[in-house]
Amino acid sequence: MKPFPLDELRVEYLRETHDLSSFHCRNDDLNDFLKSDAIESQEDLISRTYLCLWHDTILGYLALVTDTIEVKLIEKDDGVADYPYPRYPSIKIARLAVEEKFEGRGIGRFLLFWATGKVYQLSNEIGCRYITLDSKQESLGFYENFGFKVIERYAGRNFPPMYLNMYPIVSQMRQEDSGRDA
Ligand SMILES: CC(C)(COP(=O)(O)OP(=O)(O)OC[C@H]1O[C@@H](n2cnc3c(N)ncnc32)[C@H](O)[C@@H]1OP(=O)(O)O)[C@@H](O)C(=O)NCCC(=O)NCCS
Repeated sequence: MKPFPLDELRVEYLRETHDLSSFHCRNDDLNDFLKSDAIESQEDLISRTYLCLWHDTILGYLALVTDTIEVKLIEKDDGVADYPYPRYPSIKIARLAVEEKFEGRGIGRFLLFWATGKVYQLSNEIGCRYITLDSKQESLGFYENFGFKVIERYAGRNFPPMYLNMYPIVSQMRQEDSGRDA
Protein backbone atom coordinates (compact mmCIF):
# COMPACT_ATOMS: atom_id res chain seq x y z
CA MET A 1 0.00 0.00 0.00
CA LYS A 2 1.16 3.51 -0.75
CA PRO A 3 2.64 5.35 2.25
CA PHE A 4 1.09 8.71 3.07
CA PRO A 5 3.16 11.70 1.92
CA LEU A 6 4.64 12.80 5.25
CA ASP A 7 4.53 16.49 4.34
CA GLU A 8 0.73 16.26 4.12
CA LEU A 9 0.38 14.94 7.68
CA ARG A 10 0.07 17.17 10.70
CA VAL A 11 -0.26 16.64 14.43
CA GLU A 12 -2.61 18.68 16.61
CA TYR A 13 -3.45 18.28 20.23
CA LEU A 14 -7.00 17.12 20.86
CA ARG A 15 -9.67 19.81 21.24
CA GLU A 16 -13.42 19.69 21.95
CA THR A 17 -14.06 20.87 18.40
CA HIS A 18 -12.49 17.83 16.70
CA ASP A 19 -15.06 15.46 15.21
CA LEU A 20 -13.99 12.03 16.45
CA SER A 21 -17.11 10.17 15.37
CA SER A 22 -15.64 8.50 12.27
CA PHE A 23 -12.42 7.28 13.92
CA HIS A 24 -12.17 3.52 14.22
CA CYS A 25 -9.11 1.42 15.00
CA ARG A 26 -9.02 -2.35 15.57
CA ASN A 27 -9.07 -2.02 19.35
CA ASP A 28 -12.30 -1.03 21.11
CA ASP A 29 -10.55 0.23 24.26
CA LEU A 30 -8.48 2.60 22.16
CA ASN A 31 -11.62 3.84 20.34
CA ASP A 32 -13.42 4.34 23.66
CA PHE A 33 -10.54 6.20 25.21
CA LEU A 34 -10.37 8.69 22.35
CA LYS A 35 -14.12 9.27 22.12
CA SER A 36 -15.12 9.11 25.81
CA ASP A 37 -12.15 9.81 28.07
CA ALA A 38 -9.36 11.66 26.31
CA ILE A 39 -10.75 15.19 26.72
CA GLU A 40 -11.54 14.71 30.40
CA SER A 41 -8.16 13.08 31.03
CA GLN A 42 -6.55 16.09 29.33
CA GLU A 43 -8.55 18.57 31.40
CA ASP A 44 -7.55 16.69 34.56
CA LEU A 45 -3.88 17.06 33.49
CA ILE A 46 -3.46 13.29 33.42
CA SER A 47 -2.65 12.83 29.73
CA ARG A 48 -2.25 14.87 26.58
CA THR A 49 -3.70 13.45 23.36
CA TYR A 50 -2.41 14.29 19.89
CA LEU A 51 -4.19 13.58 16.63
CA CYS A 52 -2.49 12.79 13.34
CA LEU A 53 -4.52 14.46 10.58
CA TRP A 54 -4.58 14.45 6.82
CA HIS A 55 -6.75 17.43 5.87
CA ASP A 56 -9.71 16.88 8.25
CA THR A 57 -9.37 13.09 8.42
CA ILE A 58 -8.08 11.61 11.67
CA LEU A 59 -5.52 8.95 10.72
CA GLY A 60 -4.36 8.07 14.22
CA TYR A 61 -3.63 9.38 17.67
CA LEU A 62 -1.37 9.00 20.64
CA ALA A 63 -1.56 10.05 24.28
CA LEU A 64 1.44 11.00 26.41
CA VAL A 65 1.89 11.00 30.18
CA THR A 66 4.88 11.43 32.47
CA ASP A 67 6.34 8.24 33.90
CA THR A 68 9.31 6.72 35.70
CA ILE A 69 11.02 3.38 35.21
CA GLU A 70 12.85 1.30 37.79
CA VAL A 71 16.62 1.39 37.36
CA LYS A 72 16.90 -2.38 37.84
CA LEU A 73 14.59 -3.05 34.86
CA ILE A 74 16.84 -1.26 32.37
CA GLU A 75 19.63 -3.14 30.57
CA LYS A 76 23.01 -2.08 31.96
CA ASP A 77 24.18 -0.46 28.70
CA ASP A 78 21.08 1.73 28.60
CA GLY A 79 21.52 3.03 32.16
CA VAL A 80 23.61 5.72 33.80
CA ALA A 81 26.69 4.54 35.74
CA ASP A 82 26.43 5.12 39.49
CA TYR A 83 22.97 6.63 39.23
CA PRO A 84 21.98 7.11 42.87
CA TYR A 85 18.16 6.93 42.64
CA PRO A 86 15.82 3.95 42.23
CA ARG A 87 13.92 5.25 39.18
CA TYR A 88 14.72 7.05 35.93
CA PRO A 89 12.52 9.79 34.49
CA SER A 90 10.61 8.96 31.31
CA ILE A 91 7.65 9.85 29.12
CA LYS A 92 5.06 7.19 28.44
CA ILE A 93 3.09 6.60 25.26
CA ALA A 94 -0.10 5.71 27.10
CA ARG A 95 -2.15 5.07 23.93
CA LEU A 96 -1.34 4.79 20.23
CA ALA A 97 -3.71 3.76 17.49
CA VAL A 98 -4.08 4.05 13.73
CA GLU A 99 -7.39 4.22 11.86
CA GLU A 100 -8.08 0.70 10.60
CA LYS A 101 -8.57 1.82 6.96
CA PHE A 102 -5.12 3.41 6.95
CA GLU A 103 -3.05 0.71 8.66
CA GLY A 104 0.17 -0.29 6.92
CA ARG A 105 0.76 3.13 5.35
CA GLY A 106 3.38 4.50 7.72
CA ILE A 107 1.09 6.38 10.12
CA GLY A 108 2.18 4.37 13.20
CA ARG A 109 5.82 4.96 12.31
CA PHE A 110 5.10 8.66 11.73
CA LEU A 111 3.49 8.92 15.19
CA LEU A 112 6.45 7.19 16.85
CA PHE A 113 8.90 9.54 15.09
CA TRP A 114 6.75 12.45 16.12
CA ALA A 115 6.76 11.26 19.77
CA THR A 116 10.55 10.92 19.63
CA GLY A 117 10.79 14.52 18.38
CA LYS A 118 8.48 15.68 21.17
CA VAL A 119 10.58 13.90 23.81
CA TYR A 120 13.71 15.41 22.23
CA GLN A 121 12.17 18.89 22.67
CA LEU A 122 11.16 18.05 26.23
CA SER A 123 14.65 16.74 27.02
CA ASN A 124 15.92 20.29 26.40
CA GLU A 125 13.60 21.51 29.19
CA ILE A 126 13.33 18.65 31.68
CA GLY A 127 15.00 15.31 32.36
CA CYS A 128 13.43 12.39 30.46
CA ARG A 129 15.79 9.64 29.38
CA TYR A 130 13.37 6.97 28.16
CA ILE A 131 10.11 6.53 26.31
CA THR A 132 8.04 3.80 27.95
CA LEU A 133 4.88 2.00 26.90
CA ASP A 134 2.88 -1.17 27.53
CA SER A 135 2.51 -3.05 24.25
CA LYS A 136 -0.15 -5.43 23.11
CA GLN A 137 1.44 -8.84 22.41
CA GLU A 138 0.57 -8.50 18.72
CA SER A 139 2.22 -5.06 18.47
CA LEU A 140 5.59 -6.01 20.02
CA GLY A 141 7.24 -6.35 16.60
CA PHE A 142 6.03 -2.91 15.56
CA TYR A 143 7.79 -1.28 18.52
CA GLU A 144 10.86 -3.54 18.31
CA ASN A 145 11.35 -2.36 14.69
CA PHE A 146 11.73 1.08 16.14
CA GLY A 147 14.31 0.11 18.80
CA PHE A 148 12.02 -0.39 21.80
CA LYS A 149 13.14 -3.20 24.15
CA VAL A 150 10.88 -5.47 26.15
CA ILE A 151 11.52 -5.40 29.90
CA GLU A 152 12.63 -9.01 30.30
CA ARG A 153 11.20 -9.53 33.77
CA TYR A 154 7.67 -8.74 32.52
CA ALA A 155 7.91 -10.21 29.01
CA GLY A 156 5.16 -12.75 29.76
CA ARG A 157 2.55 -10.19 30.72
CA ASN A 158 -0.49 -9.52 28.56
CA PHE A 159 0.82 -6.01 27.95
CA PRO A 160 4.61 -6.30 28.21
CA PRO A 161 6.27 -3.04 29.22
CA MET A 162 8.89 -1.69 26.80
CA TYR A 163 11.32 1.19 26.76
CA LEU A 164 13.36 3.20 24.27
CA ASN A 165 16.62 4.70 25.46
CA MET A 166 16.52 8.31 24.23
CA TYR A 167 20.16 9.04 25.15
CA PRO A 168 21.78 8.02 21.83
CA ILE A 169 18.88 9.50 19.86
CA VAL A 170 19.03 12.85 21.66
CA SER A 171 22.84 12.94 21.31
CA GLN A 172 22.54 12.43 17.57
CA MET A 173 19.71 14.97 17.18
CA ARG A 174 21.70 17.56 19.14
CA GLN A 175 24.71 17.01 16.87
CA GLU A 176 22.52 17.40 13.79
CA ASP A 177 20.96 20.58 15.23
CA SER A 178 24.33 22.09 16.07
CA GLY A 179 25.59 21.17 12.56
CA ARG A 180 22.63 23.05 11.06
CA ASP A 181 23.19 26.09 13.31
CA ALA A 182 26.94 26.31 12.55
C1 LIG B 1 0.13 -1.25 15.63
C2 LIG B 1 -0.25 -0.05 14.76
C3 LIG B 1 -0.18 1.23 15.58
C4 LIG B 1 0.74 0.04 13.56
O1 LIG B 1 0.45 1.20 12.81
P1 LIG B 1 0.58 1.21 11.21
O2 LIG B 1 0.34 2.58 10.74
O3 LIG B 1 -0.26 0.14 10.62
O4 LIG B 1 2.12 0.81 11.04
P2 LIG B 1 3.14 1.36 9.92
O5 LIG B 1 2.50 1.28 8.58
O6 LIG B 1 3.67 2.68 10.34
O7 LIG B 1 4.29 0.25 10.02
C5 LIG B 1 5.65 0.57 10.30
C6 LIG B 1 6.46 -0.72 10.28
O8 LIG B 1 6.02 -1.59 11.34
C7 LIG B 1 5.57 -2.85 10.82
N1 LIG B 1 4.42 -3.27 11.61
C8 LIG B 1 3.20 -2.70 11.68
N2 LIG B 1 2.41 -3.36 12.56
C9 LIG B 1 3.17 -4.38 13.04
C10 LIG B 1 2.92 -5.42 13.99
N3 LIG B 1 1.73 -5.53 14.62
N4 LIG B 1 3.93 -6.28 14.26
C11 LIG B 1 5.15 -6.18 13.62
N5 LIG B 1 5.43 -5.20 12.73
C12 LIG B 1 4.46 -4.32 12.44
C13 LIG B 1 5.21 -2.57 9.37
O9 LIG B 1 5.29 -3.72 8.59
C14 LIG B 1 6.26 -1.54 9.00
O10 LIG B 1 7.49 -2.22 8.76
P3 LIG B 1 8.52 -1.74 7.60
O11 LIG B 1 9.10 -0.44 8.12
O12 LIG B 1 9.51 -2.84 7.54
O13 LIG B 1 7.71 -1.54 6.38
C15 LIG B 1 -1.67 -0.23 14.15
O14 LIG B 1 -1.71 -1.47 13.50
C16 LIG B 1 -2.81 -0.17 15.15
O15 LIG B 1 -3.28 0.91 15.50
N6 LIG B 1 -3.29 -1.34 15.63
C17 LIG B 1 -4.44 -1.41 16.54
C18 LIG B 1 -4.19 -0.74 17.86
C19 LIG B 1 -2.90 -1.16 18.49
O16 LIG B 1 -2.57 -2.34 18.53
N7 LIG B 1 -2.15 -0.17 18.98
C20 LIG B 1 -0.89 -0.40 19.64
C21 LIG B 1 -1.20 -0.43 21.09
S1 LIG B 1 0.07 -1.16 22.02
